[in-house]
Amino acid sequence: MLRLDGVQAGYDGTQVLWDVTLAAEKGAMTVLIGPNGAGKSTTLKVINGLVRPTRGHVVFQGEDITRTPAHERPGKGIAACPEGRRLFPLLTTEGNLRLGAYPKGARSSADETLTYVYELFPRLRERARVKAGRLSGGEQQMVGIGRALMSKPSILVLDEPSLGLAPKLVSEIFVKIRELREAGLTVLMVEQNAYAALRIADFGYVMQNGHVVKSGPPNQLLDLEELRKAYFAIP
Ligand SMILES: Nc1ncnc2c1ncn2[C@@H]1O[C@H](COP(=O)(O)OP(=O)(O)OP(=O)(O)O)[C@@H](O)[C@H]1O
Ligand SMILES: [Mg+2]
Repeated sequence: MLRLDGVQAGYDGTQVLWDVTLAAEKGAMTVLIGPNGAGKSTTLKVINGLVRPTRGHVVFQGEDITRTPAHERPGKGIAACPEGRRLFPLLTTEGNLRLGAYPKGARSSADETLTYVYELFPRLRERARVKAGRLSGGEQQMVGIGRALMSKPSILVLDEPSLGLAPKLVSEIFVKIRELREAGLTVLMVEQNAYAALRIADFGYVMQNGHVVKSGPPNQLLDLEELRKAYFAIP
């Protein structure tokens, strides 16, 4: 469904990604793991259009979108929930959620999708009129995911949904993401929390220093002793 082919990219002449090739299959949950600074977020920025590759291609549903501007990508079905969530702190929970419904195909069914998001995260219904800046970290993360869902995406792209959350909330969020995948949504997720992410994934990629160094089904990645030590902090 989504493919990166030999992508090179970076910031102001500093190359960060070196020949990154990966794919997120339709209906599957793909995770991208690796240490700090590996280039995971940069890879997602290439997917959502905030970083333009200097070489290689991004192909989504058979269409080359390498040069498609970032603001047109939600309309094509790519919804990104960036690192740190990027909510509007002075807007309410519901206001932030509704902003996600701006693509043409999502506008007319915004009320319906909002009901779906509230069913997925009942806590958000309770907090609907509260300004996003006053929400807890976990609630803000739910709003970030909910806002992405409001665009009625074909693929949900998440950057570290567990960042800064207490362990109990991490498993809660992961259960919800797994539910979305069970409901048929394609998910691509970046996680530092590699062990927990691989446990709910269908396929994984490991990045290091801007390269994809390993890929495979989760059990293969979890079996590799060196990876266990390097990424999962398992003694
Ligand atoms: N806006 C930017 N301008 C310049 N360099 C950047 C920028 N964003 C990231 N980098 C650099 O690109 C490299 C990869 O960063 P990236 O954010 O993609 O890593 P990451 O794998 O997401 O790390 P983390 O797990 O810490 O989020 C790092 O060396 C980082 O310093
Ligand atoms: Mg990152």
